[in-house]
Amino acid sequence: MKVAVAKTGSDSAEREIKLSTDLGFPVIELSSSYSPREVSDFDYLLAYRDSRLILQSTGDAQSGELCVDFSDAKLNYRANSSIRNQNIAKALGLKGGQRPVVLDATAGLGKDAFLMASLGCEVSLLERSALVHALLADGLTRTGYYGEEITAILRRMNLHFGDLLEFAADSKQFDVVYLDPMFPERRKSAKVKKDMAILQQLLGHQTDGAELLDSATRLAKKRVVVKRAKLSPHLGPCKPDIEFKGSSSRYDVYLIA
Ligand SMILES: C[S@@+](CC[C@H](N)C(=O)[O-])C[C@H]1O[C@@H](n2cnc3c(N)ncnc32)[C@H](O)[C@@H]1O
Repeated sequence: MKVAVAKTGSDSAEREIKLSTDLGFPVIELSSSYSPREVSDFDYLLAYRDSRLILQSTGDAQSGELCVDFSDAKLNYRANSSIRNQNIAKALGLKGGQRPVVLDATAGLGKDAFLMASLGCEVSLLERSALVHALLADGLTRTGYYGEEITAILRRMNLHFGDLLEFAADSKQFDVVYLDPMFPERRKSAKVKKDMAILQQLLGHQTDGAELLDSATRLAKKRVVVKRAKLSPHLGPCKPDIEFKGSSSRYDVYLIA
């Protein structure tokens, strides 16, 4: 996948140049009224719009764009509507006032991490894709953009860059390690949510499920929680100790003895 950083207007391109240096993508100059579809040499553009970093597809109009925004109405509706009764809270093993310290080792766009932080957990987020990490960092550090309630949740989220397989070698342990490494299978692609479909196209298939589970188990003090599509096989060779099934997803819980 070919990605470029888009610069528009006559303002200084400091942040675009930094992004280009950090991620190794070229900067291209476009008019302020550009349409991503006029760009034919690249599959995606990274651009700042209204102080938000967005990833735009230059191809299929359906693919649209992606941005990490923790004020998203759907996400906040989920975080506010009896989240303690939802499967994600049950899978974390929240009881009474317990607030486990969590490592979300496959952070992606940070939505699950946000839900766990909204449950009061301290959540470290680990992401191995430099591009996804940049989008996530932008969403987490947009100062003055979010209201007080969301800002308080974001304070419980700490972002790290790296691959779990290496991170596990010298990290401290966490009460819970959370994994959501896989994208839904292709045949279900009609149902794949738009942002996940863009990520899937960009990152390709992830193949190291059993190794991930092994590293997660070494880092977890109490349990490993794996999010799966409802009908997907278990991540590794072992059966989970508990399963929480929802309408489209399932949480497999591996208890640490
Ligand atoms: C399906 S997405 C996670 C979506 C996330 N749960 C959310 O709510 O937005 C999977 C993410 O895990 C990342 N990932 C996969 N394997 C990883 C590894 N070994 N270490 C760190 N991140 C990994 C991928 O780059 C991708 O961004």
